[in-house]
Amino acid sequence: MPRESKRPFQTFTDPTIPSEIDPSRIPTHVACVMDGNGRWANARGLPRTDGHAAGEEALVDCVDGALELGVSWLTLYAFSTENWKRPVDEVRFLMGFNEGLLMRRRDELNEKGVRIQFAGRRDWRVPKRVLKRMDEATELTKNNRRLTLTMAFNYGGRAEIVDAVKAMVADGVSASKVSEQQIRNYLYHPEMPDPDLVVRTSGEYRISNFLLWQIAYSELTFPEVLWPDFRRADLYQAVLEYQQRERRYGGLET
Ligand code: FPP
Repeated sequence: MPRESKRPFQTFTDPTIPSEIDPSRIPTHVACVMDGNGRWANARGLPRTDGHAAGEEALVDCVDGALELGVSWLTLYAFSTENWKRPVDEVRFLMGFNEGLLMRRRDELNEKGVRIQFAGRRDWRVPKRVLKRMDEATELTKNNRRLTLTMAFNYGGRAEIVDAVKAMVADGVSASKVSEQQIRNYLYHPEMPDPDLVVRTSGEYRISNFLLWQIAYSELTFPEVLWPDFRRADLYQAVLEYQQRERRYGGLET
């Protein structure tokens, strides 16, 4: 069943939005794998961490593009449960970078009506001060409704399913009560609609443990652009590609 925003009389205020985009078929939820920062930096003879830093501008422009389109949910993969395997200096940088990003950007995101939330494990590996910034940003923006920005941080799709099963067992849910809806109830954000569109940048054709339960019927796009070069125009192109797809959800075309 399509869950696109139905806004047939909507016109866009951003003149750079391609006229071919149908305002009545904007994806409700877009999820992005921000990939290619390291390659962007390598190509410039810079350390990988400079690539992550350059990704901040892309992130902000992507949020602005989502706001212009009227996307209601945007989920960004900022750090995976597997990214702890990266060199210790890069992990340390990414923790501080994400913390700094929240401090630098939370007020402007709040003013734009963005609700910030996080999906992932709050385990001992995440520094306390990073958890504190995450909680502050969540609290500051909790009443905003224009766009929900979910940062997938220390997130893994398999870990999320494991955590859901553990919580169900702990709650004593009996086998006869286990259903798809029940499993959804135990995901990190049960109220979050499944992504309509997944964008993975940098020409890698992988999901890398992102939102495994939720992407069962998502449309997937793989633009070649490296994340630090990603701008709202790339988001608009991905939405155009999405609108050219035919979603059947296992049924037949109508
Ligand atoms: C998955 O690829 C990609 C991610 C988990 C995104 C990681 C993003 C960052 C570290 C930078 C975040 C940037 C900003 C601006 C917040 P993978 O490399 O984990 O998996 P793979 O080995 O399958 O490619």
